[in-house]
Amino acid sequence: MYLTRLIYASSQTEQFSQNDIEAMMAAAQANNPRLGLSGVLCFNRKFFLQCLEGPREQVNLMYNKIVADPRHRHVTLVAYGEVDERYFGQWAMKYVPDNQQIQALAFRFSDSDDFNPYRMTAASALAFLRTLAADSET
Ligand SMILES: Cc1cc2nc3c(=O)[nH]c(=O)nc-3n(C[C@H](O)[C@H](O)[C@H](O)COP(=O)(O)O)c2cc1C
Repeated sequence: MYLTRLIYASSQTEQFSQNDIEAMMAAAQANNPRLGLSGVLCFNRKFFLQCLEGPREQVNLMYNKIVADPRHRHVTLVAYGEVDERYFGQWAMKYVPDNQQIQALAFRFSDSDDFNPYRMTAASALAFLRTLAADSET
């Protein structure tokens, strides 16, 4: 099954809470490794930007599950395609919460220092997530 990478943007709902993040991350840690999925999720209390990579079928199944999740809305596909290698292979799902680094990187990879993944190109969204994951590795 072809190695595939998918990136989407979404928005939090008004009733979204810290418990929701914890439950989502617990599901990701439990499910993603057995499905061959890896990735990163960035969240700034307003928007999500998530990358999923793994076998094409599993990426698609998980994306469909996530799109239907009522804990977020306006899910928008940013990038999708077959790839030669994983960029987030060491993480079942790396979670990067709101921090100053997101603002600094938003300025570098978009037209403003307000993190808004709907305003990023596919290429800049991927570069943003790669830099974010690498910088917060320690
Ligand atoms: C922004 C967001 C990201 C999510 N990412 C994942 C993920 O990477 N893996 C996962 O299994 N569930 C993820 N979920 C949760 C799924 O929508 C779903 O609730 C979960 O997979 C159900 O797990 P279960 O079948 O083990 O109960 C995410 C949900 C949201 C809102």
